[in-house]
Amino acid sequence: MSKVAIRLMQTSDLEQVTAIERRSFKTPWDRALYQKEIEENQFAYYYVIEKDNEIIGFCGMWIVLDDAQITNIAIDPDHRKFSYGSTLFQYVLNQAMVKGARTLSLEVRTSNIAAQTLYEKFHLQKAGTRRNYYTDNNEDAIVMWVTLV
Ligand SMILES: CC(C)(COP(=O)(O)OP(=O)(O)OC[C@H]1O[C@@H](n2cnc3c(N)ncnc32)[C@H](O)[C@@H]1OP(=O)(O)O)[C@@H](O)C(=O)NCCC(=O)NCCS
Repeated sequence: MSKVAIRLMQTSDLEQVTAIERRSFKTPWDRALYQKEIEENQFAYYYVIEKDNEIIGFCGMWIVLDDAQITNIAIDPDHRKFSYGSTLFQYVLNQAMVKGARTLSLEVRTSNIAAQTLYEKFHLQKAGTRRNYYTDNNEDAIVMWVTLV
C-alpha cells in the first residue's frame, strides 16, 4: 500500500513543485515566485502532498486576519482523479480553520470544471464573476467561497 503524506513546502521542493506547476497551468509561476512566497510572505502557507516520498501535488493559501484565500492547487497529471486533490484540499481547509480563518475563497477559470467539481465537493459556492480575469485568454474567473465552521 502506498504511503501518502502532507507537509509544509520547503525550498528544496521547488524543482518538483515547479515541474508540476508547468504541467498544470497555462501561465505557470516560476521558481523565484514560489521561493518568495515560502521564504518571505508571512501570510502564506504552502503544502505538498507526497506519495511514497515523491511530491505529486501542492496547494497554497494566504491567511489575512480571518480570511483565507487559496492561491493555487495542482496535482500532477499522472496522479489526477485518485482523490489526492480532495485529500490535500481537505487538509488545507482544516489548516485554515486551525489558524483562525472563518472564510475561504478562491478564483477559478470558468472552463475549469475539474477544479469547480473539487471545490463544490467541499461546499464552496459560486459568489460572482471577475470579467477577463485571466490575461492569457481573457477568460472570466468565478469567485467561490465557503464559511468555515
Ligand atoms: C483540480 C485538481 C487539483 C483536482 O485534483 P484530483 O486529484 O484529480 O481531484 P480528485 O481526484 O480529488 O477529484 C475531486 C472531485 O473532482 C472530480 N473531478 C476530478 N477531475 C475531474 C474532471 N476532469 N472533470 C470532472 N470532474 C472531475 C472528481 O470526480 C471528484 O469528485 P467525486 O469525489 O465526487 O468523484 C486537478 O485536476 C489539477 O491539478 N488540475 C490542474 C490545476 C488546476 O486547474 N488547479 C485549480 C486552479 S483554480
